Amino acid sequence: MRSPELTTAPQFTRGRLHVHSSPQEVARVTRALRAVGTKIAFVPTMGALHAGHRELIRRARNIPNTVLVTSIFVNPLQFGPNEDLSRYPRPIEKDLEVCSDERVEIVFTPGVEDMYPPGSQVQVHPGPLGDQLEGAVRPGHFAGVLTVVNKLFNIVRPDYAMFGEKDYQQLTLVKQMVKDLDMETRVLGVPTVRESDGLALSSRNVYLTEPQRQSAVALSAALTAGAHAGRGGAEAVQKAAQEVLAAHPDLDVDYVEVRSPDLAAPPERGEGRLLVAAKVGTTRLIDNTALWLGEPPEPEQH
Ligand code: PAJ
Repeated sequence: MRSPELTTAPQFTRGRLHVHSSPQEVARVTRALRAVGTKIAFVPTMGALHAGHRELIRRARNIPNTVLVTSIFVNPLQFGPNEDLSRYPRPIEKDLEVCSDERVEIVFTPGVEDMYPPGSQVQVHPGPLGDQLEGAVRPGHFAGVLTVVNKLFNIVRPDYAMFGEKDYQQLTLVKQMVKDLDMETRVLGVPTVRESDGLALSSRNVYLTEPQRQSAVALSAALTAGAHAGRGGAEAVQKAAQEVLAAHPDLDVDYVEVRSPDLAAPPERGEGRLLVAAKVGTTRLIDNTALWLGEPPEPEQH
């Protein structure tokens, strides 16, 4: 007689890297694993993996009793007509090495036709937040993101899914989708991984020339300056951040905004979020930070 593990998941061996491009294959393996009580921890990516992605993968790996699944898919639906879809980096061999290094067990690498066969048409509507901030500059972007995340969740059925705070509006909208559409995945946010000078790691940083790279640091410097001005309230924060960005004429600023942690209007006093986006040359960069607005919180009494 075959062992129960073999019967339920014939092509899966714990601790080994399995690469699948077929959604049906991944669905079959992850369902079989769930059927024997294993939980699934999932890290969706577009590849060109860097230390930020690695951090998400590590956190997922540290959740007990889980199999670690990563997806690599450059999702055309979330790119606008004049964006960088065709030149987006796709170093698949290197990415698979990173996955193997990080002990990922299942890598899902679908092709565009696997995810969007001819005739696909239904998309997820993100609601009002989808048209603000990034959504105001990139119409349709979040419908594309939420549609692919919804599809990936339906294929993988993860118990946990990791998303970076780097893309804070994306993280917020994915949490909102899970809540509003009664999905069972727990979405976990992971703090932004940065270079030593503050620049947030991004697959798009490879586009930057050396002088552009110098200006790009101004985004995180603006966040630091903004956070320091928190006591003066949202307007003071915005002004302090704008001043730092203004010192770099090659930065074309899209927005500098102060919001609440759920991206509604900022409170007069309390936790807030400062978000910036700017283009340097043809490369678009975003960053954000948590901050405190108004009088600082009372120190905790012990
Ligand atoms: P991608 O840009 O590849 O990012 C995959 C995940 O890594 C996202 O959750 C993102 O927030 C996180 N990430 C990127 N840079 C990070 C950094 N410096 N520190 C911490 N986390 C970081 O985001 C996407 O892909 C796509 O929109 C996707 C969710 C996969 C849907 O297509």
